[in-house]
Amino acid sequence: MAGELSPIDRAKFVAAKRAADMVEDGMRVGLGTGSTAAWLVRCLGEMVQNDGLRIKGVPTSSRTAELAREVGIEIQTLDEAKWLDLTIDGADEFDRDLNLIKGGGGALLQEKIVATASDRMVVIADKAKEVESLGAFPLPVEVIPFGWQTTQALLEETLVAMEVMGRKTTLRMNGDAALVTDEGNHILDLHLNRIGNVRQMALVLNQIPGVVENGLFIDICDTVVVGYGDGKVEV
Ligand code: 5RP
Repeated sequence: MAGELSPIDRAKFVAAKRAADMVEDGMRVGLGTGSTAAWLVRCLGEMVQNDGLRIKGVPTSSRTAELAREVGIEIQTLDEAKWLDLTIDGADEFDRDLNLIKGGGGALLQEKIVATASDRMVVIADKAKEVESLGAFPLPVEVIPFGWQTTQALLEETLVAMEVMGRKTTLRMNGDAALVTDEGNHILDLHLNRIGNVRQMALVLNQIPGVVENGLFIDICDTVVVGYGDGKVEV
């Protein structure tokens, strides 16, 4: 399945493979979104096909659902599964307290709901995603389309009031049009450079009318599996 891989893809693959080994027969598993999570889904598909692993997967996006079906994983909605044993997902950044920025792939809303409804969340990432403090990666905030420009103005005013360094916000595009998430919303990316108090930022953002959810995952992740380009893995 892995074939000849670039160092970055090898790092993602080995992290995904190690996390797949944490999945046990009969588990209900949240399936993340993104290129690293796609490796995980392929690894689990192989275990289902070749080793007789029986799992129920709850995908966090339409893209992941499609891939899971392709590789033969039985999928359920979150409401069918109700509660999950484990969610495995990628991340855009993680810090030493295992706080994350997610949503680079536009699926943060379902990802946060699914991870929160799980006994454990395991993040799979290449070493480059590890940071001293979160915020170099633009923080995704999902907003409803109605009045999104007003929501954007409110967000920027809030950033000024919080005296954060970077205050630029941009609408995520998909070609010439605003990106539309699986839930029919838009994403504003916040270019903050550095987030001092992640807990406060997450709370404040979610109080702004029009904001559905933000990409800060605080106290949700339990373990990070880090992959390296030479095939080494750290848990
Ligand atoms: C999608 C996500 C992804 O997990 C995150 O963007 C990492 O993606 P990749 O594994 O492709 O680097 O949060 O919303």
